[in-house]
Amino acid sequence: MEKNVNPFLTIGYVEKDYFCDRENEVEAVCKNVENGMNTTLISARRLGKSALIHRIFEEFEDSEDENYACLYVDIYACTNLKSLTEALALAIFNKFPAKRSIGKRFFDFLKNLRPIITYDALTGQPEIHFELAQAKEYEHTLRSLLQFLDSQQVDIVLAVDEFQQVADFPEKNVEALLRTIIQTLKNTQFIFSGSKKHLMLEMFTAANRPFFSSTQMLGLSEIPADKYAAFIREKFAERSRSISSEAVEFILSWTLRHTYYTQTICNRAFAEGKKSVGIEQVKRVCDEQLNLQQVTYMQYRSLLSPIQ
Ligand SMILES: Nc1ncnc2c1ncn2[C@@H]1O[C@H](COP(=O)(O)OP(=O)(O)OP(=O)(O)O)[C@@H](O)[C@H]1O
Ligand SMILES: [Mg+2]
Repeated sequence: MEKNVNPFLTIGYVEKDYFCDRENEVEAVCKNVENGMNTTLISARRLGKSALIHRIFEEFEDSEDENYACLYVDIYACTNLKSLTEALALAIFNKFPAKRSIGKRFFDFLKNLRPIITYDALTGQPEIHFELAQAKEYEHTLRSLLQFLDSQQVDIVLAVDEFQQVADFPEKNVEALLRTIIQTLKNTQFIFSGSKKHLMLEMFTAANRPFFSSTQMLGLSEIPADKYAAFIREKFAERSRSISSEAVEFILSWTLRHTYYTQTICNRAFAEGKKSVGIEQVKRVCDEQLNLQQVTYMQYRSLLSPIQ
């Protein structure tokens, strides 16, 4: 990323230069992947699960001695087995361009599943749909997609973000189906991630659920204050600017080190373009953000009943 770009991201992931710490978590998940263990990543919203997944992917894709392919599927918008199957097919389609041999093989394989491939008129992004007559056919398609991936000459890391959605699918057997398929795979490691803590815990730790005790659980909490403070000061310094220790401390205590809010305040403070940032400026930025969010909070309040 160019040096004049704001170094505090509030959306997505770019590269590790803009990513603070999480070294223990990266190491733990990488170790799981290398040792054939699946991982379940849980945290409150906006603490950095998705960014962490991309950070971990970077580790595998940059490694020279191993042959890894990392795929990310966000199933937040999936409401049933059909949309899950389509989301997985699309992730594979996007990952392996037709000029790579896997991409070529996938395209041939996909054709047999009779997909409808369309391109979004605005974004140009592909979309894949299957119009199968029976639910059983989706089970078969999902299985063959995962088995196709597993049988390529690469180790697969497949991250399924917002995995708790599966529990809400109208088909009641999807968890069991996935667990059964996953057990047959040899070269695929999974990272299941989700923010609905009680649902995720229930899925992975209740003895009567298919995924019971089948993965290593990893809870993500706030980034330690010393690491975050050093990161913030370093990003300012790299761009020949400075921020006072007092201001950094104020940000971290005001946001309770919540990643998204910390990133937002730092982003706004940086965006003002001052050579050196002090506590007064930071306090004003916090106030402004609070005011901007007021509309949203009011809306939440109107959703509550008087007693609530
Ligand atoms: N370690 C980090 N260092 C710097 N920025 C980060 C870090 N982790 C996350 N972020 C930033 O914080 C924001 C929220 O992170 P992310 O979307 O990964 O959270 P999440 O837990 O997946 O949220 P959600 O529950 O909404 O899916 C993103 O803009 C991301 O770039
Ligand atoms: Mg996320």
